[in-house]
Amino acid sequence: MSVETSKQPAVSGTASPTELIRLEGVTKRFGDNTVLDGLDLSVDTGRHVTLIGPSGSGKTTILRLLMTLAKPDAGTITVDGQRLFPAPEKEVREVRKKIGMVFQQFNLFPNMSVLRNLTEAPVRVLGLSKDEAEERARELLDLVGLADKCDARPTRLSGGQQQRVAVARALAMRPQVLLLDEVTSALDPELVAGVLDLLRDIARSTDITMLCVTHEMGFARDISDQVLMFDAGRVIEAGPPEKIFGDPEQERTRDFISAVL
Ligand SMILES: Nc1ncnc2c1ncn2[C@@H]1O[C@H](COP(=O)(O)OP(=O)(O)O)[C@@H](O)[C@H]1O
Ligand SMILES: [Mg+2]
Repeated sequence: MSVETSKQPAVSGTASPTELIRLEGVTKRFGDNTVLDGLDLSVDTGRHVTLIGPSGSGKTTILRLLMTLAKPDAGTITVDGQRLFPAPEKEVREVRKKIGMVFQQFNLFPNMSVLRNLTEAPVRVLGLSKDEAEERARELLDLVGLADKCDARPTRLSGGQQQRVAVARALAMRPQVLLLDEVTSALDPELVAGVLDLLRDIARSTDITMLCVTHEMGFARDISDQVLMFDAGRVIEAGPPEKIFGDPEQERTRDFISAVL
């Protein structure tokens, strides 16, 4: 399988060349609810980092800040050596192209065919020709096992198929980093394995950097280079999966893992 990603060296900034994502002192509040409080987090190029932790601890908020769907109240976010926050809108648009996201609720465009779901952003945002975008889209639909669904509307597909389209749509932008937010938690149990197998495959066979939020501990153990245990807006423990799942230091981590396993 080959999924090309647009891997480019850092062009500016002070981040080390291997560091792809850096959050420094990031604070995010909703009203008087401080969800992230001076969070520092970094992900190196090509690594697969998993965020685990209780519901409401701020995991989705981190991914949304990286997708620029929300803005921090303080701190800085750098991607591939380029400032994402704070930064002028023009730079933000450039940096955002490096990031793809798959959401819990698929978020496909319901009134467009599957193929058009995959070609829309590459044509509009990257300036690909319609032919180029369609060629890329067909390759990706083949990769996710849905080559025969090009003309279907997303609502005619099962949840598992929709989520595989969403993965293909994210990859169609050839992002350097893929953000995955509990991508199987809205699926019927029998559809979960197919989506996780696809993501395992992508993790194994591409150089794409991944930042995942998941409650699927077996999946996290398989694909992660590093697991971050997140609680109340901060990372309370970080380490390789063997350590975090096998011999965690923090009682909070132990309790969480035994509750979700
Ligand atoms: N758009 C929003 N408006 C108000 N509060 C929000 C919003 N998004 C998230 N929150 C709050 O921020 C906290 C963290 O949410 P979230 O990042 O979704 O947590 P997680 O993904 O870890 O479950 C929760 O208390 C949630 O209610
Ligand atoms: Mg969430």
